[in-house]
Amino acid sequence: MKLLITGGAGFIGSAVVRQAIRDNLKVVNVDALTYAACIENVASVSNSPNYSFEQVDICDRTELDRVFSEHQPDAVMHLAAESHVDRSIDGPSDFIETNISGTFNMLEAARAYWVDKGKPESFRFHHISTDEVYGSLPDDKSILFTEDTAYDPRSPYSASKAASDHLVRAWHETYGLPVVLTNCSNNYGPYHFPEKLIPVVILNALAGKELPIYGDGSNIRDWLYVEDHADALLTVIKQGEVGRTYNIGGENERTNLELVKTICRILDEYRSRESGSYQDLITFVADRPGHDARYAIDPTRISTELGWRPSVTIEEGLRKTVQWYLDNEDWWRALQNRDGVGKRLGTG
Ligand SMILES: NC(=O)c1ccc[n+]([C@@H]2O[C@H](COP(=O)([O-])OP(=O)(O)OC[C@H]3O[C@@H](n4cnc5c(N)ncnc54)[C@H](O)[C@@H]3O)[C@@H](O)[C@H]2O)c1
Repeated sequence: MKLLITGGAGFIGSAVVRQAIRDNLKVVNVDALTYAACIENVASVSNSPNYSFEQVDICDRTELDRVFSEHQPDAVMHLAAESHVDRSIDGPSDFIETNISGTFNMLEAARAYWVDKGKPESFRFHHISTDEVYGSLPDDKSILFTEDTAYDPRSPYSASKAASDHLVRAWHETYGLPVVLTNCSNNYGPYHFPEKLIPVVILNALAGKELPIYGDGSNIRDWLYVEDHADALLTVIKQGEVGRTYNIGGENERTNLELVKTICRILDEYRSRESGSYQDLITFVADRPGHDARYAIDPTRISTELGWRPSVTIEEGLRKTVQWYLDNEDWWRALQNRDGVGKRLGTG
């Protein structure tokens, strides 16, 4: 099977590329290499004869048509997106451009290619989305996001992803394009860009800087190890039912404060401070505008219908992640100089 993977130089896309090559699949990685990309994320597989790379912007329809025609993929896994909520508050236009217009271009290029090939039933357009499209949950632990939860996006990022989900479903209903969709909870793990909460906490702690927590730290997220997400996505592209949506989550709800304290405990064990705990560096900062209170996924459908389950607990995943950042200083140091990294963004 040959996969056309967009956003394969990003955090999750690169995990999918590495896993797909390990599984002996063929991959063409299509990525514009924005500020959030790091092509070193796929260095371990880039010499494989099964791997190729195209530096292409998904907003460029002519280039997309060329890539489809040259590489003849059997399936598309569409991950390319602007992904940082705080940046979407400061500058929403890139989010509208890439996440909505870019997805529209991908759908049109994929549809033209699929029609040209005689509409093969085996073709798939897999759209990778987020649980943030469902909005914010109350504190009642019995209420979870299911595939039937009504959309209620509340940030420019989640609204742009919601719009792209609607386009993908419309291209299935209207044109018959064989699509599958997934909506996943917050990911963490190796190669996470150092502007997101978990790497910020690890790297600030190592530098002896304050560990900024938005608001009072009570916001709840449902964390999933990125390699488990990649495994779920490859399960869905191979076995998912056409037209169906699968929610993906790790059943690991944590408040931001609990999460940061766990990272501090692991760091205290792996690289203790001269005195005190890394927890002493925790500082509460002004909240993000419109900060959703709680996200939590019900993964029953993907587990019962496709047999997928996460392979690590959050404790195991965080230990692997902290160890990876300790072992890969060259990787994150280079990214810390990029525009906006290390600054407080998205205060409205
Ligand atoms: N990170 C999460 O916790 C999470 C959770 C659920 C869903 N998702 C979704 O998964 C996908 C990947 O997220 P991520 O965290 O890996 O993002 P990321 O920001 O790390 O990577 C995005 C990649 O897309 C590329 N890209 C951006 N604009 C592009 C364009 N116009 N043309 C081509 N390439 C472009 C970037 O260069 C980058 O390599 C996104 O669609 C996101 O909405 C993310």
